[in-house]
Amino acid sequence: MADQDGLKVAKDYHVEEAFANNGGFYVKGAGSLDWGMKKHLANIFDPKSGNTVMFAFDHGYFMGSTAGLERLDLVIPRLMPHIDCLMGTRGALRTCVSPDNRKAIALRVSSGSSMLNEDLSHEVVAVDIEDSIRMNADCMAVQTFIGADGQLSSIDNLSRVINAGLRYSIPTLGVVAVGKDMERTDRFFKLATRIVAEMGVQLVKTYYCDNFEEVVAACPVPIVVAGGKKLPENEALTLAYRSIQGGARGLDMGRNIFQSEHSAEMAQAIRQIVHEAYTDKQAWEFFQDAIH
Ligand code: R5P
Repeated sequence: MADQDGLKVAKDYHVEEAFANNGGFYVKGAGSLDWGMKKHLANIFDPKSGNTVMFAFDHGYFMGSTAGLERLDLVIPRLMPHIDCLMGTRGALRTCVSPDNRKAIALRVSSGSSMLNEDLSHEVVAVDIEDSIRMNADCMAVQTFIGADGQLSSIDNLSRVINAGLRYSIPTLGVVAVGKDMERTDRFFKLATRIVAEMGVQLVKTYYCDNFEEVVAACPVPIVVAGGKKLPENEALTLAYRSIQGGARGLDMGRNIFQSEHSAEMAQAIRQIVHEAYTDKQAWEFFQDAIH
């Protein structure tokens, strides 16, 4: 481990320069991966825009029944046409999502805490690789708690899943968790996303922050931005727009879609930003037209 005395602050991110090692494949950092990995990533990231609209409905894994997700069997089919990738637990997917859908699957494989726990950072790998294969998962999502009490065990979980994923060509999605007391700064997200990427994940989910383009530049795999708590729709569209402008390759929103009174229209508006280069203003106008 490097001696930290006299450590220089990283600053040369070359944010204007494109990633230099794509090897002819459009997904960042995936140039040297095998066909199976690339196929899964191509299921997630649209080959034309290079981006993805993920819909997160994995909240039940620690929150139980969540406002807006009381009836997964009703909510998911309504939103499905506007989504590229479904992010959920195997319980939700197997029971409430028809297997004849053509969407990519981001399977939540870590678990272990609930809202009743003060510290949520202790998880285990709850889904083994055989079941991820049976579910035809396009990636396996693992929560990673950098700087939290459970950091070591979450890195252990992440490594196990990455190792198994590499054996069977299934990408791993490292989800950067933010605890109640943890800073949401570019300093933290640069640290956390880079650690997770260097552990070997093929894609990262994290939060938007100031200097986001530097977080993206320093992370050698694609970043999808998490939605977080419910915002007014126009603010959520601005978050989506800034994320894509900053170099995110997609959004993985939950509450900002399913807790909207107009969830399908919200998903469509997000889609315009992610795939059609709409600005937040254009997407807001699209949303308003769609609901009236
Ligand atoms: C994030 O860490 C987890 O995957 C969540 O369960 C979920 O994705 C959160 O979605 P949102 O914050 O957009 O409601």
